[in-house]
Amino acid sequence: MSNEQRKVIYSAMQPSGVPSLGNYIGALKNWVNLQNDYDCVFAIANMHAITVRQEPAQLRKKTRDLLALFLAIGIDPEKNILYIQSDVTAHAQLNWILNCYTYVGELQRMTQFKDKSAKHEENINSGLLTYPVLMASDILLYKADLVPVGEDQRQHLEITRDIAERFNNLYGEVFKVPEGFIPKVGARIMGLQNPTRKMSKSESDNENNVIYLLDDLKVIANKIKRAVTDSDTEVRYSEDKPGISNLLNIYASVTDKTIEEAEADFKGANYGTFKSAVAEAVVERIRPIQEEFARISADKAYVDSVIEQGAQKAARIANKTLSKVKKKVGFPDRPGL
Ligand code: TRP
Repeated sequence: MSNEQRKVIYSAMQPSGVPSLGNYIGALKNWVNLQNDYDCVFAIANMHAITVRQEPAQLRKKTRDLLALFLAIGIDPEKNILYIQSDVTAHAQLNWILNCYTYVGELQRMTQFKDKSAKHEENINSGLLTYPVLMASDILLYKADLVPVGEDQRQHLEITRDIAERFNNLYGEVFKVPEGFIPKVGARIMGLQNPTRKMSKSESDNENNVIYLLDDLKVIANKIKRAVTDSDTEVRYSEDKPGISNLLNIYASVTDKTIEEAEADFKGANYGTFKSAVAEAVVERIRPIQEEFARISADKAYVDSVIEQGAQKAARIANKTLSKVKKKVGFPDRPGL
C-alpha cells in the first residue's frame, strides 16, 4: 500500500500502572501488527491520568516506563508516531474548544464518569466529567480513521463521533469522523482469580488476579499456577469452564496458536501439567520483552530522543488541525506564536 492510501489508526494508554497481560494480549500485541498496514499514532495519555490523583514523581516515571515498554514490545518509533500527550499543547487547546460543543448532559450520561465518580467521591473534578472531550481531541487532531477500543471505551468513541459530526455540521468538513476498530485477533483476557471479569490493572484487590508485564518471571509463573479452574478434569474451551477457557485463551495468544490447536496440545493432560505449560509459554513470551525493556530504559539518551521526535512529529499534524479549527470558530490565526 502506498502511504497516501494508508488509514490512520489512533490509540492511547494511560500511564496509570504497568500494563497487564490482558492489556498486552487485548491491545498492545495488536498495535505491533497494525504498524505494518496503517499509519499509527500511539500516545501515552498522561493528561487523562491526572483526572485521578497521581504522585508527580511516580507519574513522570510511569509515563517514561510505559513509553519504553511500548518500544520493548516492538512499536517502531520510525514507522509510527509515538508520543507523550502533554508534550503536544494542541490537545489542551482543542479540548477547550470542543468543551464548548459538548453538552454537560451527554457527559453526565457516560458510564465511566458515573463509575469513576462513585469510586473517587472525594475528587469528582471537572476533568473526570470532560475526560471524553479530551479523548475526542486526541483522536480528531490526527484525523484518525480507526480507533481500536475495548468495550469500556466504546461510549467515548461514540461521543467523539457525535462531537465531530456536530462541529462539521456547523463549519463544514473539518474533522474526520472516526470508526471503531476491532482487530481480528486479540482475545479478551479475564482475571486469573475471577475469570468471569476482565483482567484489569485497576482491579488490584487480589494480586494473583492480574499478571503485570514487569512482574518477576517467577511471580508470573506462580500466579498462573494458582489460577482458578473447576472441579472437572478436562482441558476444554467452554462457556461453563471460564477458568480453563481463559488459560487456553492466554496460551493461544502468547504462542500465536488457535484455540483448537491449544486444546489439541493438552488432550488428555491434567490441570497441573496444563497450568505449567501455560506458565512456561507466558514466561517465554514476556522474558524478551523484559530484557528489551531493561536495555532500552538504561539508554536514557535514546528514550529522550524518541520522546523528542515523537512530540515534534505529533505536534506538526496536531497543530495543522488545530489551526483549521481556530479559523472556523473565529479565532485569529497566528502561526508560530
Ligand atoms: N481513555 C483511554 C483509556 O483509558 C485512553 C485514551 C486516551 C484513548 N485517549 C485516547 C484511547 C484516544 C483511544 C483513543 O483506555
